[in-house]
Amino acid sequence: MSKKQLIAGNWKMNASLAGSEALVRGVLEGLAAAPAVCDVAMCVPAPYLAAVQGWLSGQTAVQAGAQDVSQHASGAYTGEVSADMLRDFGVRYAIVGHSERRQYHGETDEVVAAKAQRALAAGITPIVCVGETLAEREAGHTEEVVRRQLAAVVHVNGHCITEIVVAYEPVWAIGTGKTASPEQAQQVHAVLRAQLAAASVHADRIPLLYGGSMNASNAASLLAQPDIDGGLIGGASLKVPDFLAIVAAAR
Ligand code: G3P
Repeated sequence: MSKKQLIAGNWKMNASLAGSEALVRGVLEGLAAAPAVCDVAMCVPAPYLAAVQGWLSGQTAVQAGAQDVSQHASGAYTGEVSADMLRDFGVRYAIVGHSERRQYHGETDEVVAAKAQRALAAGITPIVCVGETLAEREAGHTEEVVRRQLAAVVHVNGHCITEIVVAYEPVWAIGTGKTASPEQAQQVHAVLRAQLAAASVHADRIPLLYGGSMNASNAASLLAQPDIDGGLIGGASLKVPDFLAIVAAAR
């Protein structure tokens, strides 16, 4: 896994074809003018993957990503998209366990682990999301929650999988504008790093991203933290200047 930071945009369900083309082309033009020192990915709604793959073809500055992947290899699962299907569209990353899927679709730690395994089997790097709710933080359960969520994914058949990306996304910071302070984020990232280090000698190769209202004004202070290796960006990934400003702040 690259030691460069990773900045991944998550468009969620906020896309239109014209808007998406303008967004992708705007980011590519911006990166051509000011090449990034980090890895960049755009995690798009599955129906847009064919179009986005076309817009990204012939360049390596931005990788295509998905926002979810089926826990099943194939079969009668209407509406789901398998890891192999995503690989057919050149997908490099797949978000798994996003809090919005845990909340709205009842995804358990076990389902998230199965999704991560499916992605890995297809050669796709899962971006495994962990994070506490405001109630869990206020009750002092933050570490317990994120450690449980991470352990469910990385401990497989007695060993620790390392070809993953982890994104710490405090639920109370997602879409709220209430970004975790650099100190708050670093504190949890250090816990995750220690948990991984205890499980694998290769833990340092696992990027730990922060997500939750990262924007052009706070990106530099967050990305400067020792255990923050990049960002998973929602709202700010839909605005070319903002996304490019975050990419420019990465190292
Ligand atoms: O997956 C990234 C997302 O959850 C963060 O959203 O809008 O707070 O950057 P946002």
